[in-house]
Amino acid sequence: MRRVFVTRRLSIDPAVALGEGFDVEVHPGDEAPSPEALTAAGRRCDAMVTLLGDAVDEALLRACPRVRVVANHAVGFDNVDVPAATRLGVWVTNTPDVLTESTADLTWALLLSLARRVREGEAMVRRGRFLGWSPTLLLGLELEGRTLGIVGFGRIGRAVARRATGFGMRVLYASRSDVPRAERGHAEPVAFAELLRSSDVVSLHCPLTVETRHLVGAPELAAMRPGALLLNTSRGPVVDEASLVAALASGSLGGAGLDVYEDEPRVHPGLVARDDVVLLPHIGSATHRARRRMAEIALDNVRVALSGERPPNALNDPARPR
Ligand code: DGY
Repeated sequence: MRRVFVTRRLSIDPAVALGEGFDVEVHPGDEAPSPEALTAAGRRCDAMVTLLGDAVDEALLRACPRVRVVANHAVGFDNVDVPAATRLGVWVTNTPDVLTESTADLTWALLLSLARRVREGEAMVRRGRFLGWSPTLLLGLELEGRTLGIVGFGRIGRAVARRATGFGMRVLYASRSDVPRAERGHAEPVAFAELLRSSDVVSLHCPLTVETRHLVGAPELAAMRPGALLLNTSRGPVVDEASLVAALASGSLGGAGLDVYEDEPRVHPGLVARDDVVLLPHIGSATHRARRRMAEIALDNVRVALSGERPPNALNDPARPR
């Protein structure tokens, strides 16, 4: 019997999905297991299905010598020390592709909420403060003809760009990797500094790496157009939150739409207090379809890795898999 530890309740039953021959243990509740609980469970398991809030570092992998695969239930994998896993012979996998459209949709939900002050309007109606139609009530930004700057032009960045066509926006992108012309659509490549200078809306879609941590800090915020909007559905630490709060307070920035935070699930109190900010609880991939596919893919990677084969979404190549 192969034992699998799943660090949170999933949108499908992992025991049913894995079927016979697997003994599945699911961490109860919606909160992450403590590092101690993760280690204790990992010690008795052959595989772990982890989430972005579970830190899978070298110490954990060493303490859990039975674990042969860490299947991260996310496209991002900054919570896993992949080089350490490779050295220790552990497969690491992710769930790419299936959450591209859901995350792009949510990015647009943030953009439209901010641009048209949806959150403020909704709160006004609910609180009984809507006193009738007024020519000056909650005026916002019209998107047609404006420039959307996309930072990181992978699958999600491109899906966000595709949606911009319908809104008549010009699209710029900045990417560290070369994007084939056929995949650019109507988006134009520019340097990061030019993107900041020229965009009315800047949307972040890069992975969190050593290079992208605090990619947007005080100098970058100062370089943005007065009144520009910032969107982040990638990873919180890509933005220096204290600098963002300061830029919003100074009035230089028009607003921010955030689905991710520097120290999740904590949210900077300076953001919570503001009307020009839309805050969501990291739900970019939270559609029934995306979450079901993410779970299926993570469990499929577990099944294949434990059968001794290379899992389909391997992020590494251990020389001698455990
Ligand atoms: C991911 O997959 O990386 C998201 O942030 C969680 O859905």
